[in-house]
Amino acid sequence: MTGSPPIRVRFDADREFDAALGESILDVALRNHVDLDHACGGVCACSTCHVRVLEGADALNGASEEEEDRLDSARDVGLDSRLGCQARIERAPKGGVVAVRIPAWNVNLVREAH
Ligand code: FES
Repeated sequence: MTGSPPIRVRFDADREFDAALGESILDVALRNHVDLDHACGGVCACSTCHVRVLEGADALNGASEEEEDRLDSARDVGLDSRLGCQARIERAPKGGVVAVRIPAWNVNLVREAH
C-alpha cells in the first residue's frame, strides 16, 4: 500500500465523504453540498458553522482562543464543540473517520433563514 491512509468525514451519521489533509470540516461540507451554515464565510467571525465532533478529534488542529471565544456565543455547546471553518484535518484519524454532528439549532436556523 502506498500513500496516506484515506480520511473520511461523516456528517450526522449518514453522510460520509473523502477528505484531504489541510481541509477544514467546512471545506468538506461545502464540497459535498452538506448544509452547514457559514455566515461569515469561514473567518471565525460568527458561530453558525458550529459542529460537535463525535469521533476523530485526534486528527484535528487545536482550537485557538479566538475560536473558543466565538463558540461562547453558539448554542448547544459542549467540550466536543468546534467551528467547522476552524477545525482542520492535520493528520489521519486513528479510526479513519472524523464524525461530526450539526446541532439541531444550527439546522433550524438555516431552515428559517432561507
Ligand atoms: S463560518 Fe463563521 S465562524 Fe465559521
